[in-house]
Amino acid sequence: QMGTPSRVPPICVGQPVTSSRPGLAHSATAVAHPNIALIKYWGKSDERLFLPRTDSLSMTLDIFPTTTRVRLAPEAGQDTVTFNGRPATGEAERRIIAFLELVRERAGRAERADVDTENTVPTGAGLASSASGFAALAVAAAAAYGLELDAAGLSRLARRGSGSASRSIFGDFAVWHAGRTDGTPEEADLSSYAEPVRTAPLDPALVIAVVNAGPKEVSSRTAMRRTMDTSPLFEPWALSSKGDLADMRAALGRGDLPAVGEIAERNALGMHATMLAARPAVRYLSPATLTVLDSVLALRRDGVPAYATMDAGPNVKVLCRRADADRVAETVRAAAPGGAVHIAGPGPGARLLAEDGR
Ligand code: DP6
Repeated sequence: QMGTPSRVPPICVGQPVTSSRPGLAHSATAVAHPNIALIKYWGKSDERLFLPRTDSLSMTLDIFPTTTRVRLAPEAGQDTVTFNGRPATGEAERRIIAFLELVRERAGRAERADVDTENTVPTGAGLASSASGFAALAVAAAAAYGLELDAAGLSRLARRGSGSASRSIFGDFAVWHAGRTDGTPEEADLSSYAEPVRTAPLDPALVIAVVNAGPKEVSSRTAMRRTMDTSPLFEPWALSSKGDLADMRAALGRGDLPAVGEIAERNALGMHATMLAARPAVRYLSPATLTVLDSVLALRRDGVPAYATMDAGPNVKVLCRRADADRVAETVRAAAPGGAVHIAGPGPGARLLAEDGR
């Protein structure tokens, strides 16, 4: 059943592979799913190392996987990156190559690689693919370059591609530790990874309401930095987020879905408040977002436990019981006509699909 502890093994990668020759796999394929934070990651204490200012907690989804193959190309002079059948360009390509550099440095290897990624998030779904993308890339690249990492090690590695990717290494619910803040950057780096959170049965669903995206927003990276640098509400939110996380763990531990939803909603609204108070303000919430939020309130007035969370965009993800998901989907669809609605349940952690060439 959804939400029961240990339905999904924490991780299926990093286990010893039966092989006559350990080390390089040469070619490895991995799959990972997106996650939605119920306690948000917003703000970095170290941008280079992707160390977050606060702990965060998420649910990994069972829809929209990313599948990535990394194949070593010893003859090639440079990396090639293909995204949904086309060459990746610009910032997306640059981030992936920087990530490969990190893996090569750790593995002590120099071969370039071909990276081939298939991402199933429908265009315009407003779900970032960086979490599933870098989780799949971390698992595949580690295997291809022969880095033997346990799940926490893979989570630390995925973190260096995109912070939220650290959580997609795990299925169901995962908490990402901000790490030690009282020592060296290296100590912080070693202690900042995600791990599974035990929950009592919850049977949750996340209904994703895609609302009209409107003009292109500020990237979450830029917005985070501006919020931390200029928002007088940032520190109070970071402080209250600590309490939210403690309350969230307790609510998950007793399988209390209304409490989980309430805490997630207040944490997300608080995060957006920090952005609204930034200078200049960062506002991701659109009129259509607020219309969907009103419909969620109406559901609650009708006795349906439904709670909203929003990330760096106008879309609304509504946490509810699996049994109420169709009704919730219908309600938000009526509130945001024209936008797609998707229903997700808790999904699996990142895993290796295949290793060739051993
Ligand atoms: C609002 O993980 O995309 O979705 O670490 O800079 O790549 P980078 O940012 P990213 O930020 C996600 C922010 C969020 C909240 C969350 O997922 O916790």
